[in-house]
Amino acid sequence: MTRLKANILKILFIVLSSLSPLSGFAHPSTPDWVKSAVFYDIYPSSFMDSDGNGIGDIKGIISRLDYVKSLGVDAIWMNPIFVSGWFDGGYDIIDFYKVDPRFGSNEDVRTLVDEAHKRGLKVCLDLVAGHSSNKCDWFIKSATEGRDGRYADYYIWTDSISSKDLKDIEKRHNEKEPISSKTGAWVGVKDQFIGDACIPDADRGSYYLKNYYVCQPALNYGYANPDPTKPWQQPVSAPGPQAMRRELKNIMSFWYDKGVDGFRVDMAQSLVKNDKDKKETMKLWKEMRDWQDTNYPGKVLIAEWGSPDKAVPAGFDIDFYLPWLRKVYADLIWETGKSKQVGPGAYFEKSGKGSIKRFVEQFYSDLEATSPYGYVAVPSSNHDYPRVNAGTRNTPEEVKVFMTFILTLPGIPFIHYGDEIGMRNVDNLPSVEGSRAERSGTRTPMQWKNEPSAGFSSASPEKLYLPVFLDGGKLTVEEQEKDSGSVLNFTRNLIRLRHEHPALGNEGDWKVVTSLDKPYPMVYTRTSGNRTYAVAFNPSAAACDTELDMPDAKSLVPLSAVGKAKAKVKNGKIRLKMDGISAYIYKIN
Ligand code: NOJ
Repeated sequence: MTRLKANILKILFIVLSSLSPLSGFAHPSTPDWVKSAVFYDIYPSSFMDSDGNGIGDIKGIISRLDYVKSLGVDAIWMNPIFVSGWFDGGYDIIDFYKVDPRFGSNEDVRTLVDEAHKRGLKVCLDLVAGHSSNKCDWFIKSATEGRDGRYADYYIWTDSISSKDLKDIEKRHNEKEPISSKTGAWVGVKDQFIGDACIPDADRGSYYLKNYYVCQPALNYGYANPDPTKPWQQPVSAPGPQAMRRELKNIMSFWYDKGVDGFRVDMAQSLVKNDKDKKETMKLWKEMRDWQDTNYPGKVLIAEWGSPDKAVPAGFDIDFYLPWLRKVYADLIWETGKSKQVGPGAYFEKSGKGSIKRFVEQFYSDLEATSPYGYVAVPSSNHDYPRVNAGTRNTPEEVKVFMTFILTLPGIPFIHYGDEIGMRNVDNLPSVEGSRAERSGTRTPMQWKNEPSAGFSSASPEKLYLPVFLDGGKLTVEEQEKDSGSVLNFTRNLIRLRHEHPALGNEGDWKVVTSLDKPYPMVYTRTSGNRTYAVAFNPSAAACDTELDMPDAKSLVPLSAVGKAKAKVKNGKIRLKMDGISAYIYKIN
């Protein structure tokens, strides 16, 4: 999209938003540092263990900040670090105001923030806004202290549910694992089978609404269109849902006061129930954003929403592309679209299936919908889905091709810890703390050194949170530091290029210049002012070529290369031949 188009959109946006009920939701308050930021995400249990118990902790993270800085990234997002029941990797929070003792103390968060800031790094925490643990005091009090108790309406309770909902509960009983089933399903309070939080004297209601796992009762932000025949469906303006909003602001204030720079918001789209078009949920976040801008200017809000076209207008600076939320992304990076598989030699496009086309069309539309107010974030992977090095996509060259893609798209890249060294997604691991087998493989300990416990912990390998896979030492920071051609040094170079050449960065224009119907090579240009770059990929095993019209191009200077490619510029045309598994970034002169 050109700047002119962006400016026209900006004016349109301001005019339209002044007419709509969400008026003024533009947020030019996005902090400057975000505009060129690359994020690094850390699963705290697996990054660095300072006390030898086999589980990562905050002091461990502090001890590795120099490494994080050396990658060239600008900010860290950490998954939840709060007191938890540990049935969902920390996303079942018992105390939102306290660091889980296994990670350290609240004071350690302050130290982490100070140490990060000294190095020019920002720190974002995870805000689990939609649910708590069923062991949270609020929930237990809500269940037991009657209808007038302070927490009575922090959750959604009823005594009567439909026979369909009863069957759903029954179905969950037969599952081996703590399955999530659908968001917003009912749970029988005397009938919980996750953990030991069964509450025998619950008098608030027989059933509560869950958000994800059974152990995660949904917090009550009200219903968009309450059904008068269902009294548990409170309007968003009711005292319970309003108290919940105040509590959320309180949690944010608490951590902002400790110096954190922002939040990634878990399931941000899930707060208001029965909110089909998300209008009420958007209004809620708009309120949060306005409150934040007034009280804590300069902080960043990152949504796990999966619809940047909604999340950004609602007040978020950034929203994620996640494979299950933007199917076009799954189709592009996984052969079957299923989380467990990456097909043979196949990523980006399995010939004839049109996934490049669908991705490009969706991505253009999301860029248009969010620019110039916010950003789409395409992560390398995360704690919920497989790493870059997964399935049959398993060579360093293939990983480099993928990293070139992630780090040359507009929007904000998020690098999952370990992807920068091409750590392997480990198959067939047990489910740990609600990870289920398919999420364990992307949560294994960071591999620092070629030692049995990978330099992650002084504990013996069998005591580690999850096992490591060193591949003879190749998949460690220590080994890759020594090799200028390693995935680690390659990734560092990509991040450096992104920062040094704004056209390649978060806000440069993006245009796919090859046919969307012919998979390879895929070439896009990135432009800012009078600088243009071409990024070319051939992720398939077979060689391929193309000819592009570029009337202004005189020569091409390669800035980053994977595999072999030949490019010739003649009479305003670029002739490009690429070997299998290759990716190039060219500066166009
Ligand atoms: C999304 C988180 O990323 C995931 O790990 C978690 O299980 C669910 N939300 C529930 O909080």
